[in-house]
Order: sequence, then C-alpha cells, then structure tokens
Amino acid sequence: MKRLIKGGTLVDATGEYQQDLLIQGEHIAQRAAGIVVDDTVEVIDATGLYVMPGGIDVHTHFNIDVGIARSCDDFFSGTRAAACGGTTTIVDHMGFGPQGCSLHHQLATYHRYAEGQAAVDYGFHGVIQHIDDEILTEMAAMVSEEGISSFKLYLTYQYKLDDGDILRALSRLREVGALTTVHPENDAAIAWRRAELHRQGKTAPIYHALSRPLECEAEAIARTINLARLADNAPLYIVHLSHGLGLDYIRLAKRSGQKVWVETCPQYLLLDINHYLRADGLKYILSPPLRPHAELDKLWVGIADGSIDTVATDHCTFPYRLRQQMAQQDFSRCPNGLPGVENRMTLLFSHGVASGRISPSRFVELTSTRPAQLFGLWPQKGCLEPGADADLVLFEPQLQQTIQHQHLHDNADYSPYEGFSCQGWPVLTLCRGEIVAKQGHFTGRAGYGRFIHRRPFVEIKDKGE
Ligand code: URP
Ligand code: ZN
Ligand code: ZN
Ligand code: ZN
Repeated sequence: MKRLIKGGTLVDATGEYQQDLLIQGEHIAQRAAGIVVDDTVEVIDATGLYVMPGGIDVHTHFNIDVGIARSCDDFFSGTRAAACGGTTTIVDHMGFGPQGCSLHHQLATYHRYAEGQAAVDYGFHGVIQHIDDEILTEMAAMVSEEGISSFKLYLTYQYKLDDGDILRALSRLREVGALTTVHPENDAAIAWRRAELHRQGKTAPIYHALSRPLECEAEAIARTINLARLADNAPLYIVHLSHGLGLDYIRLAKRSGQKVWVETCPQYLLLDINHYLRADGLKYILSPPLRPHAELDKLWVGIADGSIDTVATDHCTFPYRLRQQMAQQDFSRCPNGLPGVENRMTLLFSHGVASGRISPSRFVELTSTRPAQLFGLWPQKGCLEPGADADLVLFEPQLQQTIQHQHLHDNADYSPYEGFSCQGWPVLTLCRGEIVAKQGHFTGRAGYGRFIHRRPFVEIKDKGE
C-alpha cells in the first residue's frame, strides 16, 4: 500500500519544509517537494496542516500494580488514547514484581500485558527493585538480547535504592550500554515531614504536596547527578521534573559536560499546588506533587531555552471514585499518578507553540526526536527521512477545542485538564503507515502495536537529520 501526504508543512527537529512524503508499506519511501504519483496511490491532502513525526511518550504506567491498587488503563486503552492524541510509540515503565524477582521475570510479565493489546508501538524500561550479582549480570542480556536499554531507579517508595546500590546500578548500566533513569525524591525527608503532618492530624490533599516539598526532589536530583559523575560519568535521565531548583542543578551538570538529560510533564507545566485546595483535590495526587505557580514559569523557561530535553506524561490512571473510596480521610492512602497520554501533544502545542513560547520544530524535538534519540529508537522513529517508520501525526494548528473527558479514550473517569481550551490538535495519526486515529477518534486495533527492540544507549548530540 502506498500513500502520499501532500501539500503540508513538514516539521522535524531541524525546521519546517514545504515537502511531501511518500509512504510505502510501513516506511517513509520519499521526502521531496511536489512528488507526483499515479492513481494507485492514496493521496492525503495535508494543506494547512503540520506533518510531524508521531509523538513518542517515554513515560507511561499501563496496568501497573502499585501495591494498594492497579492502574485502570491497560495496554489497549492506554495506547488507544495515545493514538487519538497523536502518539505512535510509548515506552512504559515496568512496575515492581514479587520481592526478589529477576529482570527477566518482570519483562515476561509485561510482554504478556502488552501482546495482542497495544494499538501503537511500544517498549519497556526495566525496573531495578534490588541490586545483587544476578541482577547486575542480567543487565547485559536485557540490553543486548531483549531490547531494554534503559532502567528506572526509585529513590522513594517501597523499593527505594540506597546510595551504594544506586552507584552499582549506574556503573553497570553504563558498562552494558543502558541509560539509567531516576525518580528522585528523598524518602527519609518525606517520611519525616509526613509523620509530623500526621501527628498534627493534617491529612487533606494539600498536605500531600506539603509532605514532599521541592527540596525533597532537588536534593535527590543533586545527589544522583553526583553519584552518576562518580560512576565514571554514567548517563542519567531524570524523570518528571516538577520545579526550578532541580533544573538549575541539571543545567550546572550539563554545562560541566555531564551526560544528564531531563524530562518534564504537562501537569508540571500547567497545573499548580492550588489544585489540592479544590473539593476534588484528590484528583491531582501524584509524586512529585504539583508545585507553587512560580515553578511552572521556571519550567517553561527550560522548555524554551533547551535545558529540558523531553516532555512525557507519566500517565498512571486511578479513577477519582477509587481515590475517594481509598483516601477521603487521608491523602497518604491515595494511589499516586495522573492520566494524560491523550492530551500531551495538544497541551504542549497550545501552550508552547500557539502561545509563542517555542517553535514547531522545538515541539517535535521535545515530543518525538529527543525521546527517540535518548531511548534507542532513532532514526527508526522520531524522524521523517526515507527508511524511517511511517509514524506521523498531522496537526491542525488553528483548530480550537476544549478538553472534555467524555471525548477521551482512556479508562479514567476524569481528566486533570477538563475545560482547558487548546489551539492545535492532531487530526490524523499514522503508525507504521496505518491510520490509527482520525479527528480524535480511534481507527486502529488492539494488537497492531509492535514491541520495539530498542538499541543500546549512545549519545546523539545533533538534531540528527
Ligand atoms: O505519582 C506518580 N508519578 N505515579 C507514577 C509512578 C511514578 O512515580 O512515576
Ligand atoms: Zn516516578
Ligand atoms: Zn512514572
Ligand atoms: Zn472516539
């Protein structure tokens, strides 16, 4: 099957081009101005639209068991929502398995979750819940045989690692060609704050945020950066940055030549701590928590000046009705995480591109090209060159619509962005040449998505096209 995307403005991480794209089967076959085809080729008129690499969301948690609950989006509903929002690849953070389990055990579990379910392409980040010689040995095969070239460490929650284990993980992962990703929050500081708040009977949602203020995150960022430096400059990727002080530490490290990259999420760019004071404050419980408004502006500076590398969602869905059942009396009983995979692209386009903070090509860099480069997907994905997968999103830059959960395709019962008016929406999503969403509706199928065997980590410095 051949398709021609004609008359649009191609946008990649290097700029904007008046060019057409010829798709043959699953791949981009040609990229040029004024491609002429015969009538066996289906022509898609992209006049007035941006034609961009499909979104890559490198931070989701589908079907994750967090001990007190299981997130309600599985690999079908989660990737269906992704497709409708212009995202053609997700890289899911595997959750913890039984105590002491191997890396391969968790991988097999996640393959079972995703196979026959995913509607767009997917990969997995490994999760390190303990360190011993077996785990350190297994890491090599995970990268070279299983296509898992990034692993997540938690500095808080049940399976937090201590500094010695963090060093051992960073060092070994560097050796085997993997990128270490980290959830940085100081667990002891949070426990200390939370105990004091509990003693005072302070259990409303706002105390979730006050139990883990930004210093808890900033300390853990600075510490992990220095541990990575000690581990022979091991490559490090900080997930879900929520505030400015941590970004300053990251800038300093980048300036000194350290291999450190950082992701933020729409919730930290657009929602602030005051949401916890609303009657439905439980809807916004996640970690790190939403921050004072001034932090949002600092993150937007990082989005514009290049110091933030990627925008992902950390999509992790627990319905509001479940949150109410579990945590009406106490924020600390609420499962953590927000939905958002379907609205990442429109939110960042609207508040980034349409409001003049960033260019369309910086948008592509943040949502697709840099994630692909950092996580071993490039140039198969995040790229509009011949030979790349035909993963595309056609964006209508002037289209103005309001986010309403009733129109979304996840299994949540609310959206944290309900009522947000956005300018610029995906109107067509193609994953490997197949149309998986059109005008915000799902046209794909469960099981179409393919596991992507990711390449080992290599540093790519240029915009790469
Ligand atoms: O609260 C959050 N972010 N839940 C998802 C798991 C994580 O920490 O990334
Ligand atoms: Zn996290
Ligand atoms: Zn997460
Ligand atoms: Zn629909």
